[in-house]
Amino acid sequence: MIARKLFIGLAALAVASPDFAFAEDATVEVQVVDAMNKLFGAHAGFRAFHAKGIVVQGSFKASPEAASLSKAAIFDGSTIPVTVRFSDNGGFPTIPDGSADASPRGMAIKFQLPDGSEADMVTNSFKVFPVSTAAELRDLFLAAAASPPDAAKPTEIDKFVAAHPSVAAAASTLGTPDSFADEQYRGLNAFVFTNKAGEKQAVRYVIEPERVVHLDPADAQKRDPNFMIDELKQRLAAKKVTFTLKAQIAAPGDPTNDPSKPWPEDRKLVSLGVLTIDKAVANSEEAEKKLLYLPGQLPDGIEPSDDPMIDVRNGAYAVSFSRRNP
Ligand code: HEM
Repeated sequence: MIARKLFIGLAALAVASPDFAFAEDATVEVQVVDAMNKLFGAHAGFRAFHAKGIVVQGSFKASPEAASLSKAAIFDGSTIPVTVRFSDNGGFPTIPDGSADASPRGMAIKFQLPDGSEADMVTNSFKVFPVSTAAELRDLFLAAAASPPDAAKPTEIDKFVAAHPSVAAAASTLGTPDSFADEQYRGLNAFVFTNKAGEKQAVRYVIEPERVVHLDPADAQKRDPNFMIDELKQRLAAKKVTFTLKAQIAAPGDPTNDPSKPWPEDRKLVSLGVLTIDKAVANSEEAEKKLLYLPGQLPDGIEPSDDPMIDVRNGAYAVSFSRRNP
């Protein structure tokens, strides 16, 4: 039911762009961004997805356990500066923060390493992803775009949701937080750590806030359209915000190639360290334009798993970046 509401909501918001070029012979990376632009419209200068956001800064300090799992420089225990972008879901740059369609919220982290290189972690507030592959995500957006409020029932999105139970499962894990600081974020795609001894371990990231606070959806919708963006700036002016970065440890046989398949709840969570956010950047609108987060931009010691979605995400984020910075 929630899934129907979520994606029918997207369809109702859709800026019908029936003439938007959709090339059948394009790569899936291009097609998925085309499908986003078709559903949400293309908004010059903004991301095709997670278009509305706020850029903040802070640092990460790893726990001793992190270095035993991965030799990555971000886990060596030194204080690593980070630039984080929190965002609302969807391709509308002015989506109200209290809208049910604004979840999942995004949290993208850029670690600035001492050697001048960067490593990224791109997470959101789904506990499990709605689809298994990038091609399915493309088809979900196309189905939503083909289902305006006056479409004959069952609509294309009704049919897609009925055929993909993982969409309802994922949507049921979402809430509307009272703050970007009061939400849990997950990496969903699996990555593989290598430690100094050469041992490998598949993990999924979980980013735990100090507390999770979800609003009643009706209350959330009555709030100011920018209440979460404004709240974060005010909170950071008064105090720091912290999150604990954790790794969920896969057991042999846990699926690493499909983010719609959760691992059992009792899988061990290891604290990798504490992320402290201490200030909002002065001009977030300008800062976010230049920022490109890539889920596959990784330091030595962290590799992509066998999930092909990670590679497609890299390509699609680059396509979106080149459209917003022509
Ligand atoms: C096939 C799967 C996916 C595709 C094709 C996709 C595509 C995209 C695209 C095109 C953007 C805009 C990028 C830009 O202009 O910089 C984006 C942003 C984003 N995506 Fe995804 N995405 C996928 C899966 C995911 C997953 C699994 C997560 C979280 C675990 C996620 C979280 C985010 C976040 C947080 C942003 C905003 C990044 C920022 O603040 O710059 N996406 N996605």
